[in-house]
Formats: sequence, structure tokens, C-alpha cells
Amino acid sequence: MEVIIRPDAEAASDLVARIIAAEIRAKPSCVLGLATGRTMDRVYQRLRTMQLDFSRCRTFNLDEYVGLPPSDPHSYRAYMNNALFRHVNIDLANTHVPDGMAKNLDAECRRYEAEIEHVGGIDLQILGIGKTGHIGFNEPLSAFRSRTRVKALSPTTTAQNAAFFGGAENVPRRAITMGVGTIMDCRRCVLLATGDSKAEIVAKAVEGPITSMISATALQLQRRCVVVVDEEAAARLTQQEYYRWIFENEPEWEPFRDS
Ligand code: F6R
Repeated sequence: MEVIIRPDAEAASDLVARIIAAEIRAKPSCVLGLATGRTMDRVYQRLRTMQLDFSRCRTFNLDEYVGLPPSDPHSYRAYMNNALFRHVNIDLANTHVPDGMAKNLDAECRRYEAEIEHVGGIDLQILGIGKTGHIGFNEPLSAFRSRTRVKALSPTTTAQNAAFFGGAENVPRRAITMGVGTIMDCRRCVLLATGDSKAEIVAKAVEGPITSMISATALQLQRRCVVVVDEEAAARLTQQEYYRWIFENEPEWEPFRDS
């Protein structure tokens, strides 16, 4: 795992957008794993302005609420269409979000896994992190080998997303989410966290002991994982000096230093 610290949320989001852009330019038919949420807003805003060719890209989103149709403005399908897909030249048929309305949810989860396998797996997975340490909706005690499945949202996550639904009582209680194991199988992943509300969970996820109580700690075992944080989200990390040195000196980060 590598940690990159940028001065603020703008610069951190910009770096993640540039990492995605570099992937698309290097491999136009790449398979991207995408996340939704407040943290991702800036990344998609930035991507929209970069004049990238998405025509051969395939995308798979991490999760979707159970019971929300794509037409519901709170669904993650609607989020993705509004935040990115309708602004770029992606073929909607190549964009995948689990179907939270499926009659047979278990079959839908198996279908989603099979689709990811069919395209040869995810090249670059983008992740946010919730206050419980979830990646996707992998709440505490999610098995590290778990695959796409239905997961009950924790009270902390329900509270985190209550504002979008006009109150915690309106937040769907369950979601389809890629499993921790599904995420771990990607070739490369980038986790973005910004703001002081994420400082404590980022420190636990990156520098704490590996535990299924905090799904993001599984990423310590991922072969190529970069955690991009702003100063606020980095505040509780103990090895900041080392992380800063890496970004300033390691050749792989050279093309990204000028922002
Ligand atoms: C969303 C997802 C979640 C969010 C996380 C952070 O698709 O998978 O793990 O990334 O809950 O959400 P924000 O960015 O709203 O703090």
C-alpha cells in the first residue's frame, strides 16, 4: 500500500481523476470499478473536463440500494448517469450497476460477479471509505473472501447517508455490494478520503491491525493499492513524513507532481 497526501480535497480529487485518465489513455478498453458518494463528486467533475475517450471503457459500480429503481434520484445508477455517464462518450451498455430491484437478489449478485469475470476482471477500482471503514457497503464483519451479495447497512452508514434521503428512516436498509474478495481481485485500486471526518478511520484502515471489523484494512493485503488523502484526512497518520517523501521522489509519481 502507498499513501499519497495532497494539500486539500481539490488536489486529492484531481490526482485520482488523473490516475483514472492515465489508465484510460494507456488502455482504452479498460475495466473501471467505480464508487459513488460525496467524496467522488469532485473526481467525476474533473473527469468530465478532461476530454477522455470512454467509448471502449467498461465500468462496474461497487453497489446499489435494494428497492430503488434506476429512475429514483437516490439510486446509485442515477448518481452515475448524472455525475459522469451522460457527460462523456461512454456506451451506457458498457456501464454496470447492480440491479437493486431484481426479483431474485441472490441470482442478481451471481450475475454481477459473472459479468465482471466475463470481461476479465477490474483493471482499476476506485474506492471511498465510510465511517465504519466500509469499502463498497462491506460493513463490519464482512468476510475478506466475500463476493457480491446483499448486505444490511449499519446504523452508522444509515446516519452517514440520511441527509440524501431526508432522514435516516428513509434510507434503504440493505444494498447489493461487491464483496471484499471481489474488490481485492482488482489489478489496482485507489482509495480516496478527504476531510477531517475521515481522519480517524483512515488511520485505522491504513496503519491499524487487519480486522474484518474494518473492511478497508483488507486493502493492506492488496497487491497494488494507493490511498489518496488530503491534509485533513491524513491528520492521524503516524508516517506522514515517509508518505510525503514517496510522492516527492518516487519516479512513478513524477507525471503527477505538477498539480
Ligand atoms: C459508494 C460506496 C461507499 C462510499 C463511502 C464514502 O458507492 O461504495 O463505500 O464510498 O460510504 O461515502 P462519502 O464519499 O459520501 O463519504
